[in-house]
Amino acid sequence: MTLLAIETSCDETSAAVVRDGRVLANVVSSQIALHAEYGGVVPELATREHLRNLVPLAQTALREARVTAKQLDALAATRGPGLPSALMVGLKAAQAMAFALRKSFLGIHHHEAHLYSPWIGGDPPVADFASFQPNVSLIVSGGHTMIVHVEAELKHRLLGSTVDDAAGECFDKVAKLIGLPYPGGPALEKLAEGGNPRAFDFPRPMLNEPSDDLSFSGLKTSVRYFLRDHPEILNDGRRLGDLCASVQAAILEVLVTKTVRTAKRLGLRCVTASGGVTCNRALRKELAAACGKNALTLRLAEKNLCTDNAAMIGILAERKMLRGDAATPLDAEIHASWDLE
Ligand code: KG4
Ligand code: ZN
Repeated sequence: MTLLAIETSCDETSAAVVRDGRVLANVVSSQIALHAEYGGVVPELATREHLRNLVPLAQTALREARVTAKQLDALAATRGPGLPSALMVGLKAAQAMAFALRKSFLGIHHHEAHLYSPWIGGDPPVADFASFQPNVSLIVSGGHTMIVHVEAELKHRLLGSTVDDAAGECFDKVAKLIGLPYPGGPALEKLAEGGNPRAFDFPRPMLNEPSDDLSFSGLKTSVRYFLRDHPEILNDGRRLGDLCASVQAAILEVLVTKTVRTAKRLGLRCVTASGGVTCNRALRKELAAACGKNALTLRLAEKNLCTDNAAMIGILAERKMLRGDAATPLDAEIHASWDLE
C-alpha cells in the first residue's frame, strides 16, 4: 500500500509518503521563525502558512519518494486534536485529493500517531511493529503531556495527562521569564548544561500523588516568584545555569518518575516516549537510566520524529487500513459524506 500523509495540527506543515511500513519521504516545514516574534504560535498565521506550504510540500514528498499521485492507494491526515483552523487545511486538502483521485481516506488522531513514532527508525525509516511490546507511553510536547497505556497494537488507554500546562509549555514559559526566544525549551536545555541541578529546590507537582495526572503551572509560577525575589540571577551566568538546571531537573523528575512508576504498577516491561520535549538530551538520559535500573526496555522516538511529522501519521494510517479497523465513527462519517467508492 502506498499512502500520502499530511500533518498540519500546529506549527509544522508536513507531508510523507509511506509504503509497506517504510517511510519513503518525510518533509517538514517548521514555522518557528514566523511565530518567534509573538512568543508563541499565532493560529491565524499558522493556518495561512499551512495554506502556502502544503501543496508544494506534498509535491516534494511525492518527488522524493518517486511516486506519482496516481500510484497512491490512499491518503491520510491528522484529524485532531490541534488548532482547528490549522487542522482544517491539511484535513480538507487530503480529503479533496482523495476525492479527486478516487482513493481511500483516513483521518488520524494526532496523539495516537505519537504513540507509534518510537517504533519507527533507521535510515530510511521503517516501522518495527514486529518487536512491539505492550508499553507505557509518555507523550510530551508544547501542547500535550500524557501517560498512556498501550495495551496492544492500536489498543490504548489514557491514564493521565496534565491538569494545566504541558511540560514543553513550562520549559517555554520559564525560558521567556529569563528572556530566551520562543520556543525556549532547547535554549533552556543549553543553559542548563554544566549547571547544578540541585542548586535550587523547585516543586515537583503531583509527584507523590497516586494519580497518573501531571501538573506544571505551579512550577512555572514558583520560578516567576523566585526571579521576582532574586532578579540579580538574570545577570549572573553561572547562577542562571544553575537555575535552568534546577528547573529542568524538577520537570524531568516528575516525567521520569511517574512514567516508570506507572509501568511497574501495570507490570509492563516497556516504556516509550515521543513529542518535542523528548528531544531533550537530559530527559533521554534520565529515562534510559531509570528504565535500566528497573529492567524496562526503552524506545525513544528518533529526534526528527519526536516533533510533529507526517511520517507517524502515514505509518499509523497504513497499519490501521491493513488491519481493517479503520472505521472509527468520524472516519466512517467522512467516508460516507465523501462517497469514495
Ligand atoms: O512536538 P512539538 O514540536 O510541538 C507541539 O507542541 O506539539 O513540541 C514543541 C515543544 C516546545 O515546547 C519546545 O520548547 C519543546 O517541545 N522542546 C524542548 C526541547 N526541544 C523541544 N524542551 C526541552 N528541551 C528540548 N531540547
Ligand atoms: Zn504533537
